[in-house]
Amino acid sequence: MNSTPRITLVVDGDPLVCYPEGCTSLLRALRDGGQLAVKGACEQGECGSCTVVLDGLLVCSCLVAVETCEGSAVETARGLLRPDLADALARHGAVQCGFCTPGFVVTAEHALAARDPLERDDVVAALEGNLCRCTGYNGIVAAVLEVDAARRTRRAER
Ligand code: FES
Ligand code: FES
Repeated sequence: MNSTPRITLVVDGDPLVCYPEGCTSLLRALRDGGQLAVKGACEQGECGSCTVVLDGLLVCSCLVAVETCEGSAVETARGLLRPDLADALARHGAVQCGFCTPGFVVTAEHALAARDPLERDDVVAALEGNLCRCTGYNGIVAAVLEVDAARRTRRAER
């Protein structure tokens, strides 16, 4: 008898079936399933590079056991990044390395979904779980604030 569990996820709208052996994190399951937009670095919940939205909640996927995720919806940078944020990050020089950027993108798009307008402190607080010790945060914060204002203006004009 095969005791390997079968877990079905919906990742950025597409089904992903995994057969985790032992204690497998959501991060490992996603990457083993070809979802390479999700990055792993510390794998201890410290750096935020593995951030995804899991059933609407921002999580470090390295800290979530995939066996607890049957039927869950997972959103990664691949599905979440909208062109206006990509453009703003580029213009503000805020596209950083391949380890941290996907996590920053997920956190930023999650923050941008907030009902109320974002203040600088809101963005800084939202990004505090995403670490970079190489460059800086000012460009990212400026890009998110710019996109938040522009999206709200566009929604108000509709
Ligand atoms: S890899 Fe998950 S928090 Fe660092
Ligand atoms: S960790 Fe990505 S640029 Fe510093």
